[in-house]
Amino acid sequence: MKAYNWGILGTGNIAHKFTRALILLNNAHLYAVGSRDAERAAKFATEYRITRSFGSYEEMVANPGVEIVYISSPHTEHLEHTLLALRNGKHVVCEKPMSVNASEVNIMVEEARKQGLFLMEALWPPFQPSYIKADEILKSGKMGRLLHMRGKFAFISPYDPELRTYNMKLGGGSLLDIGIYPIMDILRYMGEPDSILAASVLSPTGADESTSVIFKFGDGRMAEAYSSFTTMGGVSTEFNCEKGNLIHTRGRDRNQHLVLEFPNDFDDRIFTPPAQGYQYEAVEVMNCLDRGLTESPVVPLSFTLTLARTLDAVREKTGIRYPGRDR
Ligand SMILES: NC(=O)c1ccc[n+]([C@@H]2O[C@H](COP(=O)([O-])OP(=O)(O)OC[C@H]3O[C@@H](n4cnc5c(N)ncnc54)[C@H](OP(=O)(O)O)[C@@H]3O)[C@@H](O)[C@H]2O)c1
Repeated sequence: MKAYNWGILGTGNIAHKFTRALILLNNAHLYAVGSRDAERAAKFATEYRITRSFGSYEEMVANPGVEIVYISSPHTEHLEHTLLALRNGKHVVCEKPMSVNASEVNIMVEEARKQGLFLMEALWPPFQPSYIKADEILKSGKMGRLLHMRGKFAFISPYDPELRTYNMKLGGGSLLDIGIYPIMDILRYMGEPDSILAASVLSPTGADESTSVIFKFGDGRMAEAYSSFTTMGGVSTEFNCEKGNLIHTRGRDRNQHLVLEFPNDFDDRIFTPPAQGYQYEAVEVMNCLDRGLTESPVVPLSFTLTLARTLDAVREKTGIRYPGRDR
C-alpha cells in the first residue's frame, strides 16, 4: 500500500480534528504542517509527531516531500491557499465551503485541471458509514419516490464580532459554515431546484445568524434547509418518501442515527455508527490517488460548482454580502 505525505495548512480547530483522524490511517504519513507562525507550527508538529514544521504556508507547499495539502484556513483564504498548493504541484483537499463564491471555485477547479492534480472539497458526510447506509436504503426503492426533504444544522454560537463565524472578512455566517450541509444533502438527493425562496436574519456584522431556504422542483417535489447559530436545532436530515420516512440525525452523543418510519412499522432504529469520522474522506482521497483519479466520483468538482452556485443564489436572495467577494 502506498503511503502519502500529508501537509496540514493552518493550525486551527478543524486542523486538529482532521490531523487526529489521519493518525488512524496506515497509509497517511503526517509529514508537514505550515502556519503563519513558526512557533504555532512547531507546537502542532510536536503534538502530532509531524516530521516537518514551517513558519509559512509558502515554505510548506514548496517542500518536495509534501504530496497532499489539506487546506484548513477560513473560507476567504481557500482560493489563495489552494492555488498556492496546486501551483507547487500538490494535490489538495480544501475545507468547505470551497470558497465564498462560485466564480472563485471555478478558478480553483480550472487550475487543478490545468495542473492535472487532485482537488476535492472536504465534504465529509457522504463518506460516513451511516450516510452510505442511507444511500443504500433510498436507492433500494423500499421507501418509494423521494418527495420532500428537510435538513437542519443549528447550534448556539453566541454573537462575537471577533469570531470567524461572525467576521465577514473571513466569510462569516451560518449559511456557508453549516447551512452548506443540509443544502449539500438536498442537491445530492434531489438535484438542482427550479426555484429558491430564502431569508436570513443578519447579525450586526452582516453575518447571517440564521438562514432558511425552500427549494421547489418543477415536478412538485420540495425541500427545506435551515442553519442557525442562535437555536439548539441540532443536526438532521429528514427524507419524506412515498412509502415512509428516513430520518438521519446526529444525536447528542454525537453518533449518527438512522431511523426508518413506515405506517405499520414505526421508529425502527437501524444504524448507529460513530459520527465525525474525518478519516473516511482522507481514505477517499488516497484511494482516488491510488487509482490515478484527479477528482472524487463521490464528491466531484461538478458537484462542488453546483453547490457554490446554489449558495450564491441563496445569498443573492437573503442579502448576505462578502465585501469585494460577492461574485
Ligand atoms: N469539516 C468540518 O467539519 C469543519 C468544521 C469546522 C470548520 N471547517 C472549515 O474549516 C475552515 C477553518 O475553520 P476553523 O473552525 O478550523 O477555523 P479556525 O479555528 O479559525 O482556524 C483557521 C486557521 O486558519 C489559519 N489562517 C490562515 N489565514 C487566516 C486568517 N486570515 N485569519 C485567521 N486564520 C487564518 C490559521 O492558522 P495559522 O495561524 O496556524 O496559520 C487558523 O488557525 C473553515 O473554512 C470552516 O468552514 C470544517
